[in-house]
Amino acid sequence: MDARRRPRRPYAGRRVLLGVTGGIAAYKAIQLARDLTLAGAETEVVLTAGAQDFVRPLCFEALTGRAAHSSLYTPGQPLTHIRLARDADAVIVAPATANFLARTAAGMADDLLTAILLATAAPVLVCPAMNDRMYAHAQTQANLAHLGALGYHIAGPAVGPLAWGEGEGPGRLLDPMEILEHTARLLEAPSLSGRRVVVTAGPTREAIDPVRYIGNRSSGRMGYGLAASAWRRGAEVVLISGPSSLPAPTGAQLQRVETAEQMCIAVRDALPAADVLLMAAAVADYRPSEPAGSKVKKQPGQAPVLQLESTPDVLTATLDARRPGTLVVGFALETDDVLANARRKLTGKQLDLMVVNDATEPGAGFEVSTNRVTLLAPHREDETLPLLSKDEVADQILDRVEVLLG
Ligand code: CTP
Repeated sequence: MDARRRPRRPYAGRRVLLGVTGGIAAYKAIQLARDLTLAGAETEVVLTAGAQDFVRPLCFEALTGRAAHSSLYTPGQPLTHIRLARDADAVIVAPATANFLARTAAGMADDLLTAILLATAAPVLVCPAMNDRMYAHAQTQANLAHLGALGYHIAGPAVGPLAWGEGEGPGRLLDPMEILEHTARLLEAPSLSGRRVVVTAGPTREAIDPVRYIGNRSSGRMGYGLAASAWRRGAEVVLISGPSSLPAPTGAQLQRVETAEQMCIAVRDALPAADVLLMAAAVADYRPSEPAGSKVKKQPGQAPVLQLESTPDVLTATLDARRPGTLVVGFALETDDVLANARRKLTGKQLDLMVVNDATEPGAGFEVSTNRVTLLAPHREDETLPLLSKDEVADQILDRVEVLLG
């Protein structure tokens, strides 16, 4: 099974109540219900009367394997709103229409969904979606501000093409995958709240000429997984990324860089405010000493020789920018003397934790979605984890980081 489609933390076994209100974006709630269910959440769906003009309860029932609810009073099932409100670990309203926002801001309880919102103690995420002028209206903005002040979490809307030839604007429902990430942040304990976590990810590229470079096979997956996991735990996350085709992780401040030199500058700038540095990037160790200003042309019968020079070692070159107490984690990919090399780097680069994997093992290393790593820390026993998805490895690493942070 695709690792993204396997029941996983923090959704597995958690009860998520998905409220769907009557806007055209309700069709995306079908995908969201499916994604939540595949992630392992026990997903209960509540549709408003308006939602049922767009999507049928049966759709959700088939995908979640549970009855979809819409009525405040069902004969033989008293107090449905209280049961659903009490059972939920998180409530998501997606899409949330202007009318729903107004009713909720006014404290109405005239249908099942609004009654649940008054009765639940679970965190509530509201994902607005509507026409851009309706969204910009002062009344809608006042309703959203009021809901925010009441403790509701608000995510979106996204900017993009709106329904029915209305052009582009803020009003689109967030992508279901992004809503899933926001849901995860509600379900996860906020164990890194108030912490600033800086993550580096991906390869670097060192120019040979304007069209060619020296690079490596790093995809960025490990670093992006770490950024996502830290954000879910409540951290403020800065992700300094070399070139990667992965989508920006929800919630992280993404800074793109290309070369080892640029990564070094970005890490130096970020370090003074960092509680944690997770140095997952595969930084190039060498670069052409004199990159050509224009494309190097082929010379028949003559192979060019590339003269290389060292790039800065980011971890060593920024040692002076670390504040006392900043926790630093390094990553290494080795093929020989794996543990001895890793321990040498742990000490030499003054790390609190080293994550190492053996590139010769199947399922570990670059360009795969899994990894088998060993964790090394000063004065601690080495710990080898089983083969896990890179997202699961990220969670395990952050569990150790939390322990080391105390
Ligand atoms: N690293 C760094 N700057 C570099 C190279 C690596 O900060 N120029 C960091 C990596 O991000 C990683 C750690 O150092 O967290 C170990 O990287 P690795 O490439 O394994 O170590 P090197 O010191 O480059 O040793 P070698 O390539 O010889 O194994």
